[in-house]
Order: sequence, then structure tokens, then C-alpha cells
Amino acid sequence: MDQKLDWANLSFGYIPTDYNVRCRYRDGKWGEIEVSSSDTINMHMAATALHYGQEIFEGLKAFRGADGKVRIFRIEDNANRIISSANGIKMAPVPVDLFKKMVIKAVELNARFIPPYGSGASLYIRPIELGMSAQIGVHPSSEYLFMVMVTPVGPYFKEGFKPTNICIMREFDRVAPKGTGRWKVGGNYAASLEAGERAHELGYSAVLYLDPREKKYIDECGPANFFAIKQGRYITPASESILPSVTNRSLMQLARDMGITVEERHIPLEELAEIDEAGACGTAAVASPVAEIHDIDTGVKYIVAKDHQPGPITTRLYEKLRAVQLGEEPDTHGWNTIV
Ligand code: PLP
Ligand code: COI
Repeated sequence: MDQKLDWANLSFGYIPTDYNVRCRYRDGKWGEIEVSSSDTINMHMAATALHYGQEIFEGLKAFRGADGKVRIFRIEDNANRIISSANGIKMAPVPVDLFKKMVIKAVELNARFIPPYGSGASLYIRPIELGMSAQIGVHPSSEYLFMVMVTPVGPYFKEGFKPTNICIMREFDRVAPKGTGRWKVGGNYAASLEAGERAHELGYSAVLYLDPREKKYIDECGPANFFAIKQGRYITPASESILPSVTNRSLMQLARDMGITVEERHIPLEELAEIDEAGACGTAAVASPVAEIHDIDTGVKYIVAKDHQPGPITTRLYEKLRAVQLGEEPDTHGWNTIV
């Protein structure tokens, strides 16, 4: 265990660790897994990742549990999603077994960076794939680099499990209606930076995007899915332009397990006036409660949590998810991989 790190006060930032794990795709096949202690990569200046955005990534977490064991949450879901992202932008898909092997290896090799149980922190795992071959015409690369890096992290929103305010602004879309929103493509995040920075300057933790086709429905919330609780039901947007969130899927399952009805459907903007709780959910965000949603174009303010306290159902779902991830409660859905 690295004594120098202040585990309980980590932010969601990058802290160097000992190793990362790499694999190259050449001549139509994936090669051997390599372990590296360098945090830089060598690439051709004409690589497709640099010019044409052939770059996809994933985000998942490993937790040290109450029993001292290390659990990686829903590794197979992330393995499948990066395949979908790869197919979406014509990259070589990483086979599920290779993905799992490399993620587990990266976690094991950096075991001293897995935050202790009780610290509230976790080991964030960031798999990334890059188009590596030199190309000036707009074509997919023939060579790829897949790597897995890890870093210990604390909460994504510095407030932790405290409600924050988010905002709606119509000036920017992060993705197009039939664009890359359903995949975890780096360019989606580039497209979100201007709106995100403006929101932060105005004191909001994130932007709540509307659907890019009609701007009538809720899409997602910065780097997280959006959910709300309305009359005891869990509601979350169905949309072709949002990332299918593993965390959201988990919360929906936990909600059903608790007897809560789940509705995955279009959520018209005006319905925000009728919700009792709201949250942003994702690997980084976990389930971050939302207090107020301000529409900065119309001036309408949706006050979700009058007292700025997390709502009861959001709290139950958050606690249940954490308990499963930390091995405090039985993993009835087989979500954890113990390493
Ligand atoms: N939506 C976006 C745009 C994201 O970047 C993320 C984070 O990965 C999510 C949603 C949440 O997905 P997950 O729960 O799989 O981390
Ligand atoms: C995650 O939750 O894993 C994400 O990828 C969000 C992020 C871009 C910080």
C-alpha cells in the first residue's frame, strides 16, 4: 500500500501508477500482451487517431472490499461496449477475453494503488484503443494499439454524494441524432468541452443535454446518464444518441429488485417539473444527486431537491450499488470479477 496517497481525499484525477498493459493489432490479428512501465506512447504523426479521431475508450472500476478481496465491476459489459464502439468507427474490435485478461493484469500489477476499503475511493480503469497507421486519406487504420491504464480516484463531482445544480443550454450538441453518441468515442468529449466549461464557469456541475434532433427530450448529463424518480418510479431516457451506461443498467436492475417500476422512455423537458428526485449516473459519477436544473435559455428553474439533500430512493440505490461493489452485500447478478 502506498502510504503517501491520501486515499480519502483523492479527486477524480490522474495519479501515475507502476504499469500499463498494451497489445497491438497488425496484419489482421492481435499480438502478445506487453507490460510497460512507461506512461508515454510512440506514434506516427499521421496516425488516424490523431487526424481522424479513431479513438475509443472505456471506464470501469476495481474496489477493495470489506473482506479484503478486489472486485472489478461488470468487466464483461465494458468489454462488449468497446466492441460496439470499435465497430461504430471502423476499428479492430478487441476480443472480450483479451480485454478481460488485460484489465485484470493491469489491476493486479498495480495492486498497491487500489484504495483501501472504507476510503470511498476506487481504482479507475481506463482501456483505450487508437488507430495507429499513417493515413492521409480518410480511411480506417490497418494497425491499432489497445492499452489499459489505471489510476486511483475519488468522486467525480467534488461535492461527492451531495446534490449539485446542472443546466440546460441549447447552443451546443455533443453528438448528432444518428451520430456517435451511442459509442464511447473521444470526439464526443471534445464536442462537450465548450458547453462543459461554460457550465462550470456559471457554477453548474454538468450540462444536461437535450436530444439533438428536436431538443424536446432529455438526453444525458455530461459524462453520465440521467435518471429521475417520479411518483416512486425510476425514469431514464431512451435515446439513440446517449451512451448505454453500465451504471444506469445496474441501478435499473437494483430498482426492480426493490420493487420499483422502471421506465426507459422519452422524457419531455417539461416533465422535469414533475419529478421528485434526479441524478447523474456513471462509473465516474456513480449516482450523483441533482438539486436544481436551470434552463439557461428560457430562465426556467426546475427545483428538484428543495432542501438540497439527496432523495430517499436515490440514496437507497446509491447505497445498494456501493454495497454490491464493495462485497458488503451478495452479488446476486454476478456483476463482480474477483481478482
Ligand atoms: N454517458 C457518457 C457520455 C459517459 O461518458 C459515461 C461514462 O462512461 C456514461 C454515460 C456512464 O456510463 P457507465 O455507467 O457505463 O460508466
Ligand atoms: C466514466 O464514467 O467512466 C467516464 O468515462 C466518464 C468520464 C469521461 C470521466
